[in-house]
Amino acid sequence: MSDILIKNGLVVDTEWMRHYDILISGSKIVRVAPAIDVATLPPDTMVVHADGLCVLPGIIDAHTHYHLVSRGTVTADSFEEGSRLAAFGGVTTVVDFADDNKISLLDSLHARRREMIPMAIDYALHQGVYKYRADIRRELESIKRAGIGTLKLFTTYKDVGYLVDNRDELKSIFSDAKDLGLMVTVHCEDDEIVTSISANWKGTYKPIDHAALRPAEAEAAAIEYVGRIAGELDMPIYVVHLSSKKGLESVRRLRMDGVKVIVETTPHYLFLTKEKLEGVDGPLYVMTPPLRTAEDNEALQEALVNGEIQVVATDHCSFTREQKLESNDCRTIYPGIPGTEELLPLLHTFALTSGKLSLSQVVNLVSTGPAKLFGLYPEKGSLEVGTDADITLFDPDYNWTLSKDTIHSASGYTAYDGFNVTGKVVMTYLRGRLIMGDGIYLGLKGDGKFLRARR
Ligand code: URP
Ligand code: ZN
Ligand code: ZN
Repeated sequence: MSDILIKNGLVVDTEWMRHYDILISGSKIVRVAPAIDVATLPPDTMVVHADGLCVLPGIIDAHTHYHLVSRGTVTADSFEEGSRLAAFGGVTTVVDFADDNKISLLDSLHARRREMIPMAIDYALHQGVYKYRADIRRELESIKRAGIGTLKLFTTYKDVGYLVDNRDELKSIFSDAKDLGLMVTVHCEDDEIVTSISANWKGTYKPIDHAALRPAEAEAAAIEYVGRIAGELDMPIYVVHLSSKKGLESVRRLRMDGVKVIVETTPHYLFLTKEKLEGVDGPLYVMTPPLRTAEDNEALQEALVNGEIQVVATDHCSFTREQKLESNDCRTIYPGIPGTEELLPLLHTFALTSGKLSLSQVVNLVSTGPAKLFGLYPEKGSLEVGTDADITLFDPDYNWTLSKDTIHSASGYTAYDGFNVTGKVVMTYLRGRLIMGDGIYLGLKGDGKFLRARR
């Protein structure tokens, strides 16, 4: 493979932006410097003229569910389709999830790794822990040795069997995780609040009712609950997909008390409101936690600008229109929406229109930040010499409108239909190989690598 020189792009790091050249040899970045002279390079070096383009470290979607088998069905985007749509979104790494089979965490991890062999982009895994067991510490040690850096726990879904509802058992898992250097991430919705609202519910179960059945108070209470446990153990806690102002207020209270809370939110909680749940297409917008109000959007946007949110990831969990519209009952609509591909353009557009977020901050939220938190940095999330040449070339001036015809998810729809966005990915390199260029997908099935977290 000949070397590649990316010439005169605006190289965006979390600290600075400069017109630099980047030289790639094989799978690695070998030089980053102003004006590298082509005449000094081997004659077969390929020159990519990046004038007018931003050169970003490959984007990381730190929360995806590709090929998720759940509730008697499977999500729309397989590992191949997920990799493909990711490449169109400039995403070179995802962090997906291994479910807990409740018998062996290591077997659960190995099973998920086997399934993910068709991936065409790189991937790490969060390991779900849905049940306490006496020898959990030994199990956690074994998955840590196998490359896991994060655990995923739930404070809800008792009915589906995801909830560790005994506080002592939960605390014991947290404590083992702390000792072993595993980060604990939590889906925060208080199960008792949710089930008691359901038990007393006299209303209908239309998509819009989902918002009232799983209110922001449930998120706030669950954040408070797991945050206090983390505080007692003096360890960090990572809140996945923060959706509400009330949840954010819990985070602020915990932080005031010295608890280290790391917060992830998603584009849908930043930019969509529960009004989307009204009307015939309402089911398309059902996910858990539910969409909230414009006030919640604004609070999260403000928190993003203020640096109170560390990661924006998508919770990509796609179902086809047909799957979503099979039911109009929010208790049985498959929860989740696609989003990996829309992540960067949406965030970049917000940065531009608000004028309050720099491109460097965007890079930190969707690449460098998650790479550091999940033990993938600097190989991922940086443009440092010697690291993987995962590079996203992004046209920051391109105006376009998101629609089902512009996205590549097998779901056949985007939740951001009609959104006018500025900025489009024009080329995506994974370890020095072009996997998407000018709208053509060049990814290779099976070329994605499992990334061991170094935490
Ligand atoms: O509705 C959602 N978010 N589905 C994906 C699973 C989860 O809870 O993150
Ligand atoms: Zn979740
Ligand atoms: Zn999720």
